[in-house]
Amino acid sequence: MNDGNTLAEIQNFVRYVVSAVASASLYSPDHRQVHRLGGEAFACLQAALAVEEEIVLLLIEDELVCNKIPLDGSLFLSKFIQIFHDKGIEHLKFLPQVEFAELWSLIVSLSRQAGKTPGVCSTPHVQLGRLDIAEPDNVVRDAKKEVLSLQEISRLEKDVFAEVCACVRENKAFGMTGINEVVSSSIQAFEQMAGPLHFLEKLLVLDEYTFTHSTNVCILNLAQAKAIGIEGRLLHDVGVAALLHDIGKLFVPEEIIAKPGALSPEERVLIQQHPVRGAHYLLATPGIPKLAVVCSFEHHLKYDGTGYPEVSVGWTQNLCSQITAVSDYFDALRTKRSYRGALEYETVAAMMVEASGTFLHPLLTRNFLNLLGG
Ligand SMILES: [Fe+2]
Ligand SMILES: [Fe+2]
Repeated sequence: MNDGNTLAEIQNFVRYVVSAVASASLYSPDHRQVHRLGGEAFACLQAALAVEEEIVLLLIEDELVCNKIPLDGSLFLSKFIQIFHDKGIEHLKFLPQVEFAELWSLIVSLSRQAGKTPGVCSTPHVQLGRLDIAEPDNVVRDAKKEVLSLQEISRLEKDVFAEVCACVRENKAFGMTGINEVVSSSIQAFEQMAGPLHFLEKLLVLDEYTFTHSTNVCILNLAQAKAIGIEGRLLHDVGVAALLHDIGKLFVPEEIIAKPGALSPEERVLIQQHPVRGAHYLLATPGIPKLAVVCSFEHHLKYDGTGYPEVSVGWTQNLCSQITAVSDYFDALRTKRSYRGALEYETVAAMMVEASGTFLHPLLTRNFLNLLGG
């Protein structure tokens, strides 16, 4: 493939497919957004097929090769590659007679949660080559494995975090296996629970020796994300992002983090660097979902655009960062701190209502309080 325009069409195709898959997971496959993005993807594909006899996308390690030309990296491309990995797809071939319905059905099956049937299948003009794996890399989803309780998950998380902390302190990258296991186990535990989650509010607060801040934020994030219909890989990434959101605090001296009294201006500056330091560290760590990097960077931004770090005018805070901001706000107030006891749920709920629309996203806050308070 020598034509630069065709390559650009394929890059755009990738972008639209990734967005359509994300929208289908977030809303529903029939949502007009999925049809619109699918239609854009189809137009790009047709333009490319007007020039090429066929379009073959081949995954080689973490590179995507289109008709023998490696595609340049972008956030969409990494997500596309991740989807290929998750579904065990090795190559994908599009023939010129491909119809929109075939592309749409591919998008829908790519958006389905791992393990749900029907999986991704070939159609007459979209041919798939599959690897013999059906689950996301490093994600523990053994159906026969016993479902852990939230307390057991929290103990697992402590062990995993001890390892992560040791790696950060030695300036080494940590492996994602443990983090993925904590999130997958939490999702499995949630799948066993039905109905409202009022008990979480008491469980997380009363059992202060078991539950850490990052476990609390992870559990609260997963509850929020599931309540607004997020499933599959995106749900997993929202959990990972929660577990790692404060990782930048490991770069701040412990005596400042644990200081019971007011902070000096210099100490405040150091604390306020933790989102950026965390994001830099995660960006350099292999296998970290990009959502976790974004969430580390953005979790102290406020709904009204203030907060820290300073961002450019018009910056849009990612939905996952806003979900995390809600969980973080709740947990920071509801749990006992070195300088004060735990606040009552009613007090925290009233403070969250007050902060809704300025500090916190109003709809997410309302959903959150409905979820926990009933
Ligand atoms: Fe933080
Ligand atoms: Fe936090």
